[in-house]
Amino acid sequence: MTFDALLNSAAQRLQRAGSPSPRIDAEVLMAFATGRSRTWLYTWGDGECPTWEHARFDALVAARALGQPVAYLTGEREFWGLPLATSPSTLIPRPDTETLVDAVLARAKMSGGRLLDLGTGTGAIALAFASERPAWQVVGVDVRPEAVALATHNAQSLRITNTTFLVSDWFAALTAPPEGAAFDIIVSNPPYIAADDPHLAEGDVRFEPRSALVAGADGMADLLHLITAAQRFLSSGGWLALEHGYQQAPLVRQALIHAGYQNVESVQDIGGHERVTLGHLD
Ligand SMILES: C[S@@+](CC[C@H](N)C(=O)[O-])C[C@H]1O[C@@H](n2cnc3c(N)ncnc32)[C@H](O)[C@@H]1O
Repeated sequence: MTFDALLNSAAQRLQRAGSPSPRIDAEVLMAFATGRSRTWLYTWGDGECPTWEHARFDALVAARALGQPVAYLTGEREFWGLPLATSPSTLIPRPDTETLVDAVLARAKMSGGRLLDLGTGTGAIALAFASERPAWQVVGVDVRPEAVALATHNAQSLRITNTTFLVSDWFAALTAPPEGAAFDIIVSNPPYIAADDPHLAEGDVRFEPRSALVAGADGMADLLHLITAAQRFLSSGGWLALEHGYQQAPLVRQALIHAGYQNVESVQDIGGHERVTLGHLD
């Protein structure tokens, strides 16, 4: 069969299986199975697909039809233009999270400084900042050692050297000022989904670890903890920026204001939802 014919039938199968992006899924899996780029496939798609590549593609499509995330099947996802290795130990980076990176870069104009990424996962946020601001020192922490190993691997593959990743239960492994150095910026995309949220039974999140997704009965537990705990680790004037669910912005703003942060505001993602809230200390 030709590449085109295989792609068409796989896209139809994935659509029937409920994928929200059947054609793109099929193209990404075909590119991965055959070691060819999607551009090559658009150009030469009328060629015959070799049997072993066909078999490999079929196996990937079958796994995707059962709901497996494409990024776990290929082991890779791009974030902020950086190709990142992914694994089932942590969240697959989402394009929405680029809103947090954009919002902080627009406000933090300092040439040097220290940034902390809490719950770093693949290292996506930390590595985006480190690549944009090579003079910043970036620290990423995660409670899961597998995630820290993955983030470290990603930094090495990308030859990004101004990052350090370590295992820590939020701030537990860090030393607060005055013994430790303060951070100018603290960012996090923490777990923020309520334990009984029906979305946990849909799509890619079914395959992602609950430790990356769920934060107590209403999803606010980690956000509220970070808002309070971050104050001891921020420099004066330091920023805290948090990603959260699309209905949590008023609660996050209220908690930041109550804790004494200044100029508290929420920022919309590309879909027009308030998904990032930030503020700074005096
Ligand atoms: C929503 S994921 C975000 C991952 C990554 N920052 C991103 O945006 O793609 C939340 C991350 O927080 C980590 N995490 C959960 N509880 C934590 C804790 N108590 N201390 C540190 N990290 C934690 C999870 O392991 C997971 O990697």
